Amino acid sequence: MEGAPLFLVFLGAPGAGKGTQARLLSEKLGIPQVSTGDIFRENLNKGTKLGLLAKGYMEKGELVPDEITVAMVKERLSRPDCARGAILDGFPRTIAQAEALDRILAEKGASLTAVPYIKVSEEVLLARLSGRWICRNCGAVYHMIYNPPKVPGICDICGGELYQREDDKPEVAKNRLKVYFEQTAPLIEYYKRRGLLVEVNGEQSIEKVQEDLEAIIESHDCP
Ligand code: AP5
Repeated sequence: MEGAPLFLVFLGAPGAGKGTQARLLSEKLGIPQVSTGDIFRENLNKGTKLGLLAKGYMEKGELVPDEITVAMVKERLSRPDCARGAILDGFPRTIAQAEALDRILAEKGASLTAVPYIKVSEEVLLARLSGRWICRNCGAVYHMIYNPPKVPGICDICGGELYQREDDKPEVAKNRLKVYFEQTAPLIEYYKRRGLLVEVNGEQSIEKVQEDLEAIIESHDCP
C-alpha cells in the first residue's frame, strides 16, 4: 500500500462540513481538495461557458448534469498535483458519477481509498447553511455562531471580504437538501456495500470531526 495515491470522497449533505474538513486535511496531507461546487462557482464568477451552463442549476439548487460534471472532474484529476491523490468534496453526487469516478481512477491505475460519510441531522444542516459566510478572495469558510471570524465580515486568513452564498437562502437550501436525499443519499448504501464507507459524527466540533477523519486516514495506511 505504501506509495499508493490517496483518493478520498467526502460524502455528506449540504452543510455537513465537507468543505471545511477537506480544506483542513488537504493542507495537512499535501494533496488537493477537489470541490465541484468551488470549481463551478469560480467559473460562474469568471463568466466562463461552464459557469454559465452551471448557473441555472445552481440557482435552483438542482444538480448540474452528470456529463458536464464528470468531464470537469476528469480534467481536474488529470493534473499533476493529483498524482499523489485528492480529496473529493461534493463529487460524486449520483450513482452515475460514482461509476464514472471508478473509471477515471482505474484509467490512472488508482482506486478509492475510503469514503468518510459526515453525518449531520437535517435541522443542524439548515442552521449551518443560513449562518455560513465565505471569503470572496481565498474561499475560507466561517459560521457566524460556530466558527466566527475575528472581525465580522473580514477573513482571518487573507483580510478578504466575506459573503453569503445565493444558494444558502432558505428556499434554495431546502431544495438542495431534497435533491441530496433523492439523488445523493443512495451513495451511502453504494459505498457501504463496497466496504469503503466510514461514518463520522459531523455534529461534533470542527476539531473533533477532523481528529476522527485523521484516524480513518491513518487506519488506511495513508501517507
Ligand atoms: P457545493 O458547493 O458542493 O455545496 P454542497 O454539497 O451543498 O455543500 P456545501 O458547500 O453547502 O456544504 P459543506 O458540506 O461543504 O459544508 P461547509 O464545510 O461549508 O454545491 C453547490 C451546487 O453546485 C450544487 O447545488 C449543484 O448545483 C452544483 N454541484 C456541485 N457539485 C456537483 C456535482 N457533483 N454534480 C452536480 N452538481 C454539482 O460547512 C457549512 C457551515 O457549517 C459553515 O458555515 C461551517 O463553518 C460550519 N461548520 C462546518 N463544520 C462544522 C462543525 N463541525 N460544527 C459547527 N459548524 C460547522
